[in-house]
Amino acid sequence: MNRRLSAPVGITATGQCFPPKVVTNDDLSKIMETNDEWIRTRTGIRERRWVEPGTGASQLGAPALQMALDNRGIKASELDLILVTTVTPDTLFPATACRIQDMVGASNAFGFDLNAACSGFLYALTTAASLVAAGGVRRVGVVGVDIMSTIINLEDRATSVLFGDGAGAAIVERVEDGLGILDFEHKVDGSGGCFLFMPAGGSLKPATAETVAAKEHYIHQAGSEVFKNAVREMADNSKLLMDRNGFRGDELKLFVPHQANIRIMDAAAKRLELDPARMMVNIDRYANTTTATIPTALHQAVEAKRVEKGDLVVLSAFGAGFTWGSTLLRWAY
Ligand code: UT7
Repeated sequence: MNRRLSAPVGITATGQCFPPKVVTNDDLSKIMETNDEWIRTRTGIRERRWVEPGTGASQLGAPALQMALDNRGIKASELDLILVTTVTPDTLFPATACRIQDMVGASNAFGFDLNAACSGFLYALTTAASLVAAGGVRRVGVVGVDIMSTIINLEDRATSVLFGDGAGAAIVERVEDGLGILDFEHKVDGSGGCFLFMPAGGSLKPATAETVAAKEHYIHQAGSEVFKNAVREMADNSKLLMDRNGFRGDELKLFVPHQANIRIMDAAAKRLELDPARMMVNIDRYANTTTATIPTALHQAVEAKRVEKGDLVVLSAFGAGFTWGSTLLRWAY
């Protein structure tokens, strides 16, 4: 079933924000037993950005949203809704969307946070677009931000080398007929939750001295289980979306996969029979920024003029939950 929105809605501007501190693979090899060659060949990562301690998600999210507003040429007061996706909110409550609303001065907006880990940006895009199509809101600022450096355990080399910090944002609103989101397919499978999660800090296991000592406030990942599922679902899901809309791989101008591992991304591109030059890759510079990989990669593709009005674009993600999904768009500007 094609999931067509009831009105044409799309992205009309993008923005991003990264902290200035670059952490290379060689830097990591000085604090743990790893090396550049292992990280590069297994993942495609060369370096990542990490914030200085004391930096919250809102401090990257707000500038990313401001950049998107500036690129669109509108004021924050023209937003009706701010939707923030993150697994590393400033605080569990209030929502990071509230802080970002205040920082950018979005005086007419309501807002909330949405947690779907690495699939967060795509789920938020669909949520925002559906609300706009229904007519309840006119303009949404969608922000994907994660400060992964605050939840990685530097004693776990298999996981800690993978992640970076960053924020991406998009303005979502009505667009011309025939442009914007054409279709999407999103899924969850909660039985995969045990393979990628943070054990403590929620209602099930509140923070105690014991949970801190046991390092249960960090990411725990069974890498190969996640890898197997990510390869299968990202490739199948994006191919399904292309097939059911009657598009071939050579008609796709830009493929923006979640940047978790270059091997997962290559497998999805191969399944789409895509010219590798049409896949957006920035994992080498920024690593896995969780919900921020897709909006930042998209922003960089727009800046590099790799996508233009009318071009066919597929965004595809897989992450904790398990959550996954893809979105098919005709670029709107
Ligand atoms: O965004 C959320 C979704 N997350 C993902 O999609 C991540 C999916 N998983 C992966 O990308 C991969 O599973 C990893 C990159 C995490 C791991 O790659 P792998 O090829 O599955 O390696 P492995 O875990 O099987 O480890 C292979 C070897 C092990 O040594 P032995 O047991 O073979 O002697 C590890 O101890 O590599 C060792 N190793 C390392 N060596 C140097 C693990 N981490 C490191 C490291 N540096 N950082």
